[in-house]
Amino acid sequence: MQAININEELKYIEKVKQINNNKILKYYIMTMGCQLNENDSEKLCGMLEKMNYIKTERMKDADLVLFNTCCVRENAEEKLFGKIGEVKKQKEDKHTIIAIGGCMMQEEHILNKIKQSYPYVDIIFGTHTLHKMPKDLYKALEENKKIRDVIDIDGEIIEGLPISRKDKTKASVTIMNGCNNFCTYCIVPYVRGRERSRQPKDIIEEVKELSNKGYKEITLLGQNVNSYLSVEREKNIEFEEYEGINSFATLLRAINKIDGIERIRFISPHPKDFTDDVIEAIRDCEKVCKLIHLPLQSGSTNILKIMNRKYTKEQYLTLVEKMRKLIPEVVFTTDIIVGFPGETEEDFEDTLDVVKKVKFEQVYMFIYSRRVGTPADRMENQIPEEIKHKRFDKLKKLVENQIEENNKKYLDTIQSVVVEGISKNNENMLTGRTPSNKIVVFEGKEELIGKIVELKIMSQHMWYLKGKIV
Ligand code: SAH
Ligand code: SF4
Ligand code: F3S
Repeated sequence: MQAININEELKYIEKVKQINNNKILKYYIMTMGCQLNENDSEKLCGMLEKMNYIKTERMKDADLVLFNTCCVRENAEEKLFGKIGEVKKQKEDKHTIIAIGGCMMQEEHILNKIKQSYPYVDIIFGTHTLHKMPKDLYKALEENKKIRDVIDIDGEIIEGLPISRKDKTKASVTIMNGCNNFCTYCIVPYVRGRERSRQPKDIIEEVKELSNKGYKEITLLGQNVNSYLSVEREKNIEFEEYEGINSFATLLRAINKIDGIERIRFISPHPKDFTDDVIEAIRDCEKVCKLIHLPLQSGSTNILKIMNRKYTKEQYLTLVEKMRKLIPEVVFTTDIIVGFPGETEEDFEDTLDVVKKVKFEQVYMFIYSRRVGTPADRMENQIPEEIKHKRFDKLKKLVENQIEENNKKYLDTIQSVVVEGISKNNENMLTGRTPSNKIVVFEGKEELIGKIVELKIMSQHMWYLKGKIV
């Protein structure tokens, strides 16, 4: 899909500067949700900084407060409403502009709630209107009007937005938007629209630019990365092949060749789309980390069917075995939902069984959360809260025991670690990550930040390892 022209929209960057009399102002941003949302926030920061807004970590200092929201689970809603309430007084005192964007704003019942209970919010935009933020802000400033800029469309590809990245060593690159899978529990396809891939050339140019700026690690992002360009191929939607890229596997191979980039990661792939060409590309590309996030969701074939995941327990386990055969050093992380409607003790035991068999490096565990508009929300056999929590606790215990056991394998090994920065808990220590994404804390000089060091692992803890430079 060709990117749309946003030159007209970007003109508002200058207009905002003028209306603010070229003053330097402050913005505060809070991002909820996944790495795609984080990457969107980096683009919002990019636009704001071009408009002479500088970032502050303190909400009360800000002239503009921006929330980039998520709605994949329920808990984000309370958090958002709490925050909007909190900033009300600040708005009354110093006319702070309040803007809210992102996935939650695509939900009608949320929009209505904001209109009714929080009418003082200045700007609301959705996932398809992120690039219009300068125009929305201009209108809010010039006309002192409340801007409601949410549209419900399949979605477009936007290129050329300014971006201000959070990190200096590792960077996220969104390769596709939207999702066509419609897992029955999930709200994402409704709020992010249909799946569409960026042009290969645009991705390669972005990664090359990141490499020139000194970035070492790239994470490719999408709701279903291993179906990159497959909708385009199936539906004969035109795309330009560039450096032989016409699939996710060929994209990995092309990025692997870019000098300066040392590590490539990707999230999330879908088990149903894990074709052999992708497995072979992971095996052959030395920069692609042999840590694969392979969302399981449930270990029960029954539940997987009702979830519309399109694989069985056996197919998932066979896929893991196949990858282990082809890529001996491969390890896995996963996402699991407990308490999906109709989940029996036996179904839950199947989930535990897969966890025991695969021995994941990390499991991101979620209690099933009803999402308005999804098929699972309309199912009658919802699981009582206390059973959901009981199962969650049981899974958590198993996972923690496994992680502790699993971490022992790192002891006395030498790990190459990309150094990310100073440790949050101890300013005399540095922190970095192994190819398998384990955090390693170690003593070292600040000039090592952004470099790759070889560390001997001296001790292991639940959430991190301790290392020593060798
Ligand atoms: N596209 C990715 C991730 C989507 S959202 C994938 O398919 O893996 C991230 C995770 O949130 C999902 O993997 C799932 O485990 C969890 N999730 C999504 N909807 C949920 C819901 N309604 N309740 C609880 N967890 C949910
Ligand atoms: Fe949601 Fe499923 Fe799409 Fe992931 S693949 S975003 S879980 S619908
Ligand atoms: Fe949340 Fe939207 Fe990501 S709903 S998980 S921020 S795609």
